[in-house]
Amino acid sequence: MRLAVVVTDPYLVAEVLGKDTEIEKSIEGVYSKFNVLLHAHGKPNIFTSHIDDYWKLVRKGVAPAFSPKNIRKGFGHVVQVNRQLISILEEKRGAPVDLDNATLRVTLDVIGRVGFGKDFGATRDLSDGRTNVALDMMAAGRDEGIKRFSNPLRQYMQFLPPLPDDRIAAEIGVFFTGGFETTGHTIAWALFMISMHEEVEAKVLAELAFLELMPTPEQPTPRAMEYDDIAKLTYTTNAIKESMRMLPVLADGTNRTTVRDTRLGPHLIPKGTMVWVPLKATFNSPHLWDRPDQYIPVTAEAGKQSMPDASSEARAKRFLPFSAGTRDCVGQSLARMNYTTTVAMLLAHFKFQLTPEVTPHIKPP
Ligand code: HEM
Repeated sequence: MRLAVVVTDPYLVAEVLGKDTEIEKSIEGVYSKFNVLLHAHGKPNIFTSHIDDYWKLVRKGVAPAFSPKNIRKGFGHVVQVNRQLISILEEKRGAPVDLDNATLRVTLDVIGRVGFGKDFGATRDLSDGRTNVALDMMAAGRDEGIKRFSNPLRQYMQFLPPLPDDRIAAEIGVFFTGGFETTGHTIAWALFMISMHEEVEAKVLAELAFLELMPTPEQPTPRAMEYDDIAKLTYTTNAIKESMRMLPVLADGTNRTTVRDTRLGPHLIPKGTMVWVPLKATFNSPHLWDRPDQYIPVTAEAGKQSMPDASSEARAKRFLPFSAGTRDCVGQSLARMNYTTTVAMLLAHFKFQLTPEVTPHIKPP
C-alpha cells in the first residue's frame, strides 16, 4: 500500500511546489496517461517529463512564445477571434447557445493563431456539424505544427537541437490539450458566475462602460478593446479570479511523489509518498477563507479577504490556479490575456441567462 499525504496549508503547498527535485511530479501515475495519448510509443512531453534535459530543452524553447512582448503581439488575434464569435452570436440573439462549446472554440482558435500561426476556423461557424471539433482541430494543429516546425515554434528553438517530428507532435498535442480546455472552461464558468450574480454583473458592466468598451446612451459607439485595457479591467479580472477560486478547472490540482525522505515543515515524509495538492479544496477551505462559499469578486484578490493569523504571503499562496515553482503553467500569460479579453468583449455585447429547461436544475454557488 502506498502512503499519501494531502497538503492544503499555503506555506507547505509553496514548499511542495518549490522542492521540485525532492518532490517530483508523479509521472508514473496519473500523468503517464498523457504519454500514451500523445505519443505512439508513450514518450514523455513537457507536461509529463521529469525535470531532465528533455524537459529543460522544451520548456526553454517555448518560453519566449509566452513572453509579455509576444503575448502583446498575439492580442489582435484574440480580438479577431472574439469578433467572429460575437457576429455569430448576434445572428443567434435570443436563441439558446452552448456557451461552453463556443468558448472552447475561441481558445482553440487563439492557440492556433497565437501559438502556431494558423487559423483553424473553429469559431467561424458554431453549427458546422462537427461533433468533436477539439479532436479535429488538434489533428489539424499537429499536422500543421509538424509542417510549420520552423514557424513559429522552431523560431524559439533555433538555438537548440531540433526535436524529431514525433516528439514535436506530442508537444503540440500538449499545448492544445493543456491550453484550450482549461482556458475555454474557465471563460464559460466566469460568464456563468458573473451572469448569475446581478450585482457583480452590474459592476463589470460599469467598468466596461467607464473604459468606453460598451455602448451607453452617452457613448453609443464603444471603442475597440486594446491590450492595455486588460490591466485596467481590475474588477472584471477579480470576478474571473473569484470564479476560478470557486470553480477551478484543474480542481484535483497536482500530484507529486517524494524521491527521498523529505522534510516538509515539521513533518518527515518518507520516500515514495504521494503528495497531493488539491486546488479546489485549498481554494474553498473554511480554514483559509472567511466566506469560501460566497462569490465576492473583490476577495479573490489575494490578501483582500481576511485569513485569521496569516501574513499576506500566506494569503497570496492559498490561491495558485496556475500552480507555482519550476513546473508552473507555462501558458498562463496567454490564458490570462485570452480569458480577460473574451469575458470583457462578450459581456460588452450580450446579457447571458440560463435557458428555461436548465434553470430549475442549476443553482449557482
Ligand atoms: C485558465 C487556463 C489554465 C489553467 C488554470 C492552467 C493551469 C495549469 C496548472 C495548475 C499546471 C500545473 C499542472 C501540474 O503540476 O500538474 C499547468 C501546467 C501546464 N500548462 Fe497550464 N493552465 C491554463 C492554460 C494553459 C495554456 C493556455 C497553455 C498553453 C497554450 C498551458 C500549458 C501548460 C503546460 C505545457 C504545462 C506543463 C508545464 C510543465 O510541467 O513544465 N496551460 N497549467
